Amino acid sequence: MCGIVGYIGEDKAVDILLSGLKRLEYRGYDSAGIAVLNGGMQVSHAVGKVQQLADRVYRDWTPEFISATRLGIAHTRWATHGPPTENNAHPHLDQSGRIALVHNGIIENYSDLRQRLAAEGHTFSSDTDTEVLAHLIGEYFDGDLLSAVCGALRQVEGTFGIAAICVEQSDRMVVARRGSPIVIGLGDQETIVASDASAIVAHTDQVIYMDDDDVAVIERDGVDLRNIHNVPVSRQVSRIEWDAKAAEKGGFEHFMLKEIFEQPEALRNTIRGRLDLGRASAILSGLSLTSREMAEIQRVVLMGCGTSLHAAMIGEYFFEDLADLPADVEQAAEFRYRNPIIHSRDLAVAISQSGETADTLAAVREAKNKGALVAGVCNVVGSTIARETGLGVYLHAGPEIGVASTKAFTSQLLVLLMMALKFGRCRRLSRQSGEALCREIEQVPDLVQQVLQRNQQIAEIAAKYSAARDFFFVGRGYLYPAALEGALKLKEISYIHAEGYHAAELKHGPIALLHADVPVMALLCDVPGKEKTLGNVEECKARHAPVVAVATEGDRDAIRICEDVIEVPRTSTYLSPLVTVVAMQVFAYHVARLRGCEIDQPRNLAKSVTVE
Ligand code: M6R
Repeated sequence: MCGIVGYIGEDKAVDILLSGLKRLEYRGYDSAGIAVLNGGMQVSHAVGKVQQLADRVYRDWTPEFISATRLGIAHTRWATHGPPTENNAHPHLDQSGRIALVHNGIIENYSDLRQRLAAEGHTFSSDTDTEVLAHLIGEYFDGDLLSAVCGALRQVEGTFGIAAICVEQSDRMVVARRGSPIVIGLGDQETIVASDASAIVAHTDQVIYMDDDDVAVIERDGVDLRNIHNVPVSRQVSRIEWDAKAAEKGGFEHFMLKEIFEQPEALRNTIRGRLDLGRASAILSGLSLTSREMAEIQRVVLMGCGTSLHAAMIGEYFFEDLADLPADVEQAAEFRYRNPIIHSRDLAVAISQSGETADTLAAVREAKNKGALVAGVCNVVGSTIARETGLGVYLHAGPEIGVASTKAFTSQLLVLLMMALKFGRCRRLSRQSGEALCREIEQVPDLVQQVLQRNQQIAEIAAKYSAARDFFFVGRGYLYPAALEGALKLKEISYIHAEGYHAAELKHGPIALLHADVPVMALLCDVPGKEKTLGNVEECKARHAPVVAVATEGDRDAIRICEDVIEVPRTSTYLSPLVTVVAMQVFAYHVARLRGCEIDQPRNLAKSVTVE
């Protein structure tokens, strides 16, 4: 969603801020803005892309001004309070025009605060909650920006990641967070802050991940960390483990395509050092439970949203089949509001690529409140969910920039599989089965590579279906969640209306919609349930719906019955959703490309959904 960049140092702040915003474009936004200090406050906003903001800034501000400016803040806004207009774009100013603020998150009591400030004579030029916060900071300002920010934030309900600058203190910026990430990058005579490390990594790999209710004064040569009550706190300096190149397209037309093709390598990184052939188990050091503690867990609750929810659904099968552990899947928003029943011997597992999804984070807090042990399965190191859960396993898939989640999903599956293996070995799983599973997991990168080698063939099949208006995806067992994921991939990037269903559900309603213009993607890998899905395919054919199958290579039934077959290598049941989904990612990508869609930044979508 929204993105923040702030810079203070010896370099050209305007260039750094704009290139930082470009690195955050993937998060999804609809307007952008920048405020800098250089003999006074200069602010510029634009609706649309960062490039439009850059064009405006380089047109309106003189080269001398730009090259002499050393401090500023910038923002990409994904509209919540008020439409995407220049007035609503951040940065927002306080009443005096001497304090500028960028903000991610939502100020829930902004309406009350706005009324109070308006009664005191404040005038507002936007519909946003952020402008109210800027005015509130201005109210508290008596020469010290830090105390003003702390005072204002103590009045605020809701979530925020903010960066503020003021004319009176042009040697600093003040940042703060609650529920919306802020990362502080420590460079040589420069400090760069951002809502996400990808805007920082080109400058430094030394970062501080702020905690909730931390406030910091940022200067070019250091950081003074406080809490919201202006009391000093200390936070450790961490290292970003990937470099700027990892967040670039590297010759691919889209980030999504790059990330699809990166999967063999990402999966190798997910597995690296984690398989213990000696014990026929997995080594997951972040899941620091003793064998006895693992054996005592009575139920696993897997929580997530979107693609991560689909991974959770497959995880349910892993835990039940391999670890002999009852498992339940919870859509995170549903879990947080439903008053779920949780026991102290439950392990809640929050699955989130970003580690910042608002509903998943709230579900983590709810599960903790109710006494469950909570673990995170996150990709982004230092993310809120990763830190709040304490226990957990990182994906190590590298930065995922494309809005459509691809490599994070397959890495999530492998992490969940290794977790189930580890739990299984403390319970009922035999050494022999554990060893066989370890060997299979080792093969996964190669299996995925084999799917990717069919890219051209999948592209040709995709071309036949790229004009479809509706699409159904069906599967059973492990391939049921895979069908949901295939449909999600297609709809989010190609805008084709796509529905994922359990194959058995077709007869309970959806079959009414089938006809010659409504193709069906049938997941037909050679796993239990295949024969029955084949029967459902026959029913689709009887309604003249064209059927594309994802099937095990050489599958004669699929070739005989279906119009088109995307072949994937033979795997065990456990790995069948993994190879199937990779094939559907490639399919969705080519359909979207042929339809001329904005693949990396689909309309209305944000990479990380940090508001409800
Ligand atoms: O960062 P998370 O894994 O928590 O994100 C959850 C969903 O927002 C995300 O998977 C979303 O559904 C993707 N656009 C799917 O491709």
